[in-house]
Amino acid sequence: MYNSKIAGLGFYVPENVVTNDDLSKVMDTNDEWIQERTGIKERRHVIKGADTTTSMGVKAAQKAIERAGIDKNDIDFIVFATLSPDYYFPGPGVLVQRDLGLKTVGSLDVRNQCSGFVYGISVADQYIKSGMYKNVLVIGSELHSHGLDMTTRGRGVSVIFGDGAGAAVLTREEDTSKGILSTHLHSEGQHAEELSLIAPGMGKRWVTDIIEDADSEDTSYFPYMNGQFVFKNAVVRFSEVIMEGLQKNHLKPEDIDMLIPHQANLRISQFIQKKFGLRDDQVFNNIMKYGNTTAASIPIALTEAWEEGKVNEGDLVVLAAFGSGFTWGSAIIRW
Ligand code: UT7
Repeated sequence: MYNSKIAGLGFYVPENVVTNDDLSKVMDTNDEWIQERTGIKERRHVIKGADTTTSMGVKAAQKAIERAGIDKNDIDFIVFATLSPDYYFPGPGVLVQRDLGLKTVGSLDVRNQCSGFVYGISVADQYIKSGMYKNVLVIGSELHSHGLDMTTRGRGVSVIFGDGAGAAVLTREEDTSKGILSTHLHSEGQHAEELSLIAPGMGKRWVTDIIEDADSEDTSYFPYMNGQFVFKNAVVRFSEVIMEGLQKNHLKPEDIDMLIPHQANLRISQFIQKKFGLRDDQVFNNIMKYGNTTAASIPIALTEAWEEGKVNEGDLVVLAAFGSGFTWGSAIIRW
């Protein structure tokens, strides 16, 4: 019997900082509204051509591999979570295998949006626990900025999202009281369209129709979010899935040393913090600097928390996510 543990972490964000004031120059929005409703002060946007979802993922992965102290040839499997792949197909997993110059190891693309990294961790954990693989690279990366509606019409969505990538190397842990203790995954497709991007997608219509019909009235090319409905579901599901993980391991909220919630909205994180009676030092937030980076948000936050010395050996670390699908999940980790 083995556990898996996070042996190395890395993140990468593009240099280009976009403030709330910058956004107010291209759409009807303002710093006060954005900060009050979301906590976001600024986010990063890739300058066209400077990076891709894959290239950001590769940069984060290189750091994670180096910090794990392993050779890249020791990676047995790649898991790549994103909602913004470079290509419709193939997914970015194979591009990482190519661009990192890895052996012909398997690569899996995860399409679970904000929960993607937690789903990825869960997959990697099962492969390691079963003994099939020893080192699995898990990446979450998003290039949102090129696909957002940067006009007033899209302001309810476009001010929230930012670009970036985070990565973790999971490795075999022989002490089963340490590492990833359990993961918990859920979905509820009934609300699929409440936070979605309908086109391009074969379910709506064939690609040729999309090209012929392309016009400025068609908003199905942009992400849609029923913000208040998503918010209400998020606070319930975050709470449930954190409790589920704690109970499975006979733990209580006060046992948490560090909660890393998916950085969806600072108000959601604050609600969860209050609900579980956690102190400020028990919850990590960096949405203020990066916005919501979807599948990248947890690995970016976890890496930053670790770099700042806020995650230490023996700590109980909880990862929790909720997003489009709806999908949600948690991971309970003894560091
Ligand atoms: O990561 C995946 C999961 N995502 C989430 O969990 C996000 C959950 N939802 C949210 O975070 C919030 O719902 C938002 C931040 C997206 C929106 O906040 P809200 O308090 O729910 O605002 P709202 O959509 O109800 O809009 C309130 C008002 C509207 O104006 P009226 O109709 O009251 O006149 C909007 O048109 O704010 C207006 N508005 C804006 N105003 C300035 C919407 N977006 C903006 C904007 N700037 N960017």
